[in-house]
Amino acid sequence: MPKIIMGVESSCDETGIGLVRLHDDGTVELLADEVASSVEQHARFGGVVPEVASRAHLEAMVPTVRRAFDSAGLTLSDVDAIAVTAGPGLAGALLVGVSAAKAYAAALNVPLYGVNHLAGHIAVDTLQHGPLPTPSLALLVSGGHTQLLRVDDIASKITEIGSTVDDAAGEAYDKVARVLGLPYPGGPPIDKAAQEGDPGAIAFPRGMTGPRDPAFDFSFSGLKTAVARWVEGAQARGEQVPVADVAASFQEAVADVLTAKAVRAATESGIGTLVISGGVAANSRLAGLAAERCAEAGIELRVPRPRLCTDNGAMIAALGAHLVAAGCAPSPLDLSANPALPV
Ligand code: KG4
Ligand code: ZN
Repeated sequence: MPKIIMGVESSCDETGIGLVRLHDDGTVELLADEVASSVEQHARFGGVVPEVASRAHLEAMVPTVRRAFDSAGLTLSDVDAIAVTAGPGLAGALLVGVSAAKAYAAALNVPLYGVNHLAGHIAVDTLQHGPLPTPSLALLVSGGHTQLLRVDDIASKITEIGSTVDDAAGEAYDKVARVLGLPYPGGPPIDKAAQEGDPGAIAFPRGMTGPRDPAFDFSFSGLKTAVARWVEGAQARGEQVPVADVAASFQEAVADVLTAKAVRAATESGIGTLVISGGVAANSRLAGLAAERCAEAGIELRVPRPRLCTDNGAMIAALGAHLVAAGCAPSPLDLSANPALPV
C-alpha cells in the first residue's frame, strides 16, 4: 500500500511542509511543497535573527500545514508517518517544528521520525531524478552549510569527508554582497551582477588549496576579507568600484574551489555521481563549472531545481519516506531538537 509522509522543516528561516507518496516499489512522489519564509524580516539585519525566525515559525506553522494539505487534496487523516528536522539548525527554530510534528504524530497516532537536515538536502534529489546510485557524493552549499558528504545509504550511512573551517559558501555571498552594497540574501544579486563582469579581472585567493591544506575542507573567510580589502582600496583611491568585475571574480573563486574539490573527491573515491544541493546550488557559475568538470571526469551530475535546493519540507518528507521504506525505527515521542546534530 502506498504511504503518505508529511515533512516538517523549521531549522532556519523557512517554515516548510512537504507531502510525498511512498510507492510500493520504493519510488517517492512529490505531492505538496509549501514554504513560508521570514527572509524579508531578516533582510535589514543582513542575516537571520534567531528570535525573529522562531516567532515567524510559530505564526506560519499551522497555516502552512493547511496550505500543503489543500494543494495536495489530502486531509491530515491520510498521513501514515511524519518526519521532522531534528537538527542541525537554530535551537529555537528547530523546537517549533519538532513540537508541532510531535503534536501531529500523537494526535494522528502515526510514527514520528526525527531526521537530519543535511541528509534531507540530499534526499530531495530523488524527488526529481529518481533513486540515488550508491555510493554518491554530495556537495551541500547554503547559507548555513558547506560540506562534502559520501552517501552509502541515504537512510543510514552518510559520512562527512570535508567541510568549511569558517564561513559557509552562502554566508560569503551574503557578506560580499553587503560590501558591494547589494541586498540580502546576496547570492542572487551577485550572480546577476557577475553576468556583466569579467571573472578573470581580479585574482582573488582560493582558500584551502595549498599543498599542506586538507584536500576536502573549505575556507571562505580569507576570500571574503580579500574582497572587502580590494573594495576598500578602490574606494580610498576615489575610484568607482567595478561591481560586476568584483562579483564575477569572487564568484569564480568560489565555484572554482567547490567544483575542483568535489570532482577530486569523487574521482579519488571512485564515485560516479555528484549531487549539488543547498541554496548556492542555484548559482549559475557553480552549476556551469560543475557540469564542465563532471563531464571531463566522467561523473554524473545531479542538481535539483532551485525550489528543491533551498530549505523546504519536501526534502524532509522525502528523507522520511526513505526511512520508512528502509524499515528504520521511528523516534520516541520525547524527541528533542539537536542544534549541532552530526550527519
Ligand atoms: O539553502 P538556503 O536557502 O538556506 C540555508 O542557508 O540553509 O541557502 C541560502 C543561501 C544564501 O546565502 C543565499 O545568498 C544563497 O543561498 N544563494 C545563492 C544563490 N541563490 C541563493 N548563492 C549564489 N548564487 C545564487 N544564485
Ligand atoms: Zn539547509
